[in-house]
Amino acid sequence: MKSFKLLSIVVIVAFLLAACGGGATAPKELKIAVLAPLSGPVPTFGEMTRDGALLAIEEWNAKGGVLGMTLVPVVEDSQCTPDPAVNAANKVVNQDKVHYIIGEVCSKASIPISEIANAAKVIQISPTSTNPSVTVDGNGITKPYIFRACFIDPFQGLVGAKFAIEKIGAKTAFVMVDQANDYVKGLAEFFEKAFTEAGGTIVGTESYTGSDTDFSAILAKIADAKPDVVYLPDYYNIVNLAMQQAKEKGITTPFLGGDGWDSADLNLAAAAGGYFTNHYSPDDPRPEVQDFRKAFEAKYNGKTPDALAALAYDATNLMLSAIKAAGADDTDKVKAALEAITFNGVSGTITFDASHNPVKSATILKVTAEGVKFEAVVNP
Ligand code: PHE
Repeated sequence: MKSFKLLSIVVIVAFLLAACGGGATAPKELKIAVLAPLSGPVPTFGEMTRDGALLAIEEWNAKGGVLGMTLVPVVEDSQCTPDPAVNAANKVVNQDKVHYIIGEVCSKASIPISEIANAAKVIQISPTSTNPSVTVDGNGITKPYIFRACFIDPFQGLVGAKFAIEKIGAKTAFVMVDQANDYVKGLAEFFEKAFTEAGGTIVGTESYTGSDTDFSAILAKIADAKPDVVYLPDYYNIVNLAMQQAKEKGITTPFLGGDGWDSADLNLAAAAGGYFTNHYSPDDPRPEVQDFRKAFEAKYNGKTPDALAALAYDATNLMLSAIKAAGADDTDKVKAALEAITFNGVSGTITFDASHNPVKSATILKVTAEGVKFEAVVNP
């Protein structure tokens, strides 16, 4: 009888310990920060990025999370602008104690975020920031904890220049540039270099600022210079204004741009006749693209995923695959896993070079009044 009582007490105590302690049985959580421009000049970039990342997280959680941990997204609005981006990065690193960041979209926001993440040994994968300075410092040294899922602008500028010369038949180009935007400034320079090296002539380069709304002075110079192509490597909000005003002035010169044109809010009527380089086309028949498109449209009421959504989905899957391969929530192990990974994504196969940049193909798209059409794929 005595031993029975003792046994009962042992059983009850053991039960209570298990119930209260919870250490072994309660599911653990792993936070993944998503820093995206949900407000500010380019909100479609932020919404698509958030939606792509959340789809990937939902799919992993449905399969049991990663290493037995449930994934918890921490979404912050970093506004495509340095100061809000720094605040968002400090918040998720210091307050939420995240070890992993997906974001930002815009290079000028990703660069300051990378300084904070790298110093804290937090892994950052930017899905879409294409300026070289996101992953390397001023001395060309790779930031150990910073990666991206997209190609970089020296390649994007070269693809644009070659397309201008070989497909548009351009011999002369006029370049419009916002000197305060790292992405625009860098891409303009890489285009000018590649266009000139391929035998073309730059007949004018004119600067504006991101808050300008009247481009008539620059457009008057374009009308005088009569270039074969105008290179405008900015985001859709500026493209909409400048191309609308060019149409009103009767300028028929084709405009060419970069990935920043990719938005459901690109004004098709204004931008018709233009071309842009991009990371992906939703019409690509590869099964990776079509499976992703189907899942995304099912979750988001039929909304078609653009390159931002595809790359955020890839960046998140890449991060989670590396955590799984590393076998632990340990950013030193995860960065080593990323450096060794071969990842087959929606936007192509990703392996990293020494600067933590994937080597990937680019897609060229043509804008028509009816929509954006696939034009060509260019391999590195
Ligand atoms: N590449 C741009 C940048 O670095 C961001 C961007 C990517 C915008 C893809 C649209 C589509 O700032």
